[in-house]
Amino acid sequence: MTTNMLNPDAGAHILQWADLLARHSEPPWDARGELTATYLTHAHLATAGDLAQWMRDSGFDSVTTDAVGNVVGVYRAARPDAPVLMTGSHYDTVRNAGKYDGRLGILVPIACVAALARAGRRLSFDIELVAFAEEEGQRFRATFLGSGALTGDFDPQWLDQQDAHGLTMRDAMRAAGLPGEMAAIGALRRDPSRYLGFVEVHIEQGPVLVERAVPLGVVTSINAGARYVCEAGGRAEHAGTTPMGMRRDALLAAAEISLFVEQRASLAPGLVGTVGQMEVPGGSINVVPGACRFTLDLRAPTNAQRDALVTDVLAGAREIAARRQISLECNESMRVAAAPSDPAWQARWERAVAAIGQPVFRLNSGAGHDAMKLHTIMPQAMLFVRGGNRGISHNPLEIISAEDATLAVQAFTALLDDLDVNG
Ligand code: GLV
Ligand code: MN
Ligand code: MN
Repeated sequence: MTTNMLNPDAGAHILQWADLLARHSEPPWDARGELTATYLTHAHLATAGDLAQWMRDSGFDSVTTDAVGNVVGVYRAARPDAPVLMTGSHYDTVRNAGKYDGRLGILVPIACVAALARAGRRLSFDIELVAFAEEEGQRFRATFLGSGALTGDFDPQWLDQQDAHGLTMRDAMRAAGLPGEMAAIGALRRDPSRYLGFVEVHIEQGPVLVERAVPLGVVTSINAGARYVCEAGGRAEHAGTTPMGMRRDALLAAAEISLFVEQRASLAPGLVGTVGQMEVPGGSINVVPGACRFTLDLRAPTNAQRDALVTDVLAGAREIAARRQISLECNESMRVAAAPSDPAWQARWERAVAAIGQPVFRLNSGAGHDAMKLHTIMPQAMLFVRGGNRGISHNPLEIISAEDATLAVQAFTALLDDLDVNG
């Protein structure tokens, strides 16, 4: 298929689809016109419903929802028992999110398959598009849940985790019509011998491409990461009568720890550390904080750098807590290895970008992606698409242009052409 067989308005259509998905948002963000669709909420299920419908309308041969809520569309090869190219990205969002993080990597392949189906063309491989149900780790402390289920990394203990309202993941699954049982979830594990590899299209979520005035970027590697949920324990007491030197303030310990995270992560380029959540459970204006819950998100280009960052941050946090007579417990909620792109698949993206007349620009990914999970069982490589507004993401100001979305569809089509031995 040549790119001129594609709908020239494919990018505009993708932006319209993203706008339609963004109508599905959960309370209280929906009332403010903000997008939040966390795992298995009504907004999330409505999003899955639209994606499944659009996959069917676009000519996928089978569209199913699996035991963790992934929407899986298959466009069959010319012959049975062909190998499979897997692609996809996530449809859950952070709170008050942008419209393209994750979703772009679902909508671009739908547009490509729609063009193949319109042309009546079958390839030498199946295309398996997975709209991953969960990647962001928002409602439960389970990150990469959708892709993790496909790689055998779904932790059975996650089913007993409770959301902020005390509902377990198992019950949330059952309320959504999913089995909520490990037997069904374990069966989702893919056999890598059937797969050619995994490719993921994603908005860059950073400023590099827009600053270089380059629409597409070929990813060389995805940074390693680790997350912790921490609880600091001090002594709740009277804010008016307790002298400053006699307090055991849990919030101040957490605040000092977050400054230490900033300092340690600033020591080398490429390291990042974030305390994204901090709360004083049951706190009052006139009570010294007796407890503080906070999170750590630590990332680095290599596993060794990530490990050194984690070790130093946890040691520094313990030292700060001990000096302030604060108890501290930090539990790891996610650890994911760096994922260097497979050289052959990275080269395929490079050829695809060159084939559509765009400059080949390589960059690494600071953000985490489902490709990191698939990386553990099959070769993978990603394509980034330029964002506007200085590349801002995890923010409603996240934007892409219709022209760049069209280029992403063209590059994906060129990659399919390159891979197709029938063509
Ligand atoms: C996913 O968006 C992440 O990198 O946190
Ligand atoms: Mn994200
Ligand atoms: Mn994402």
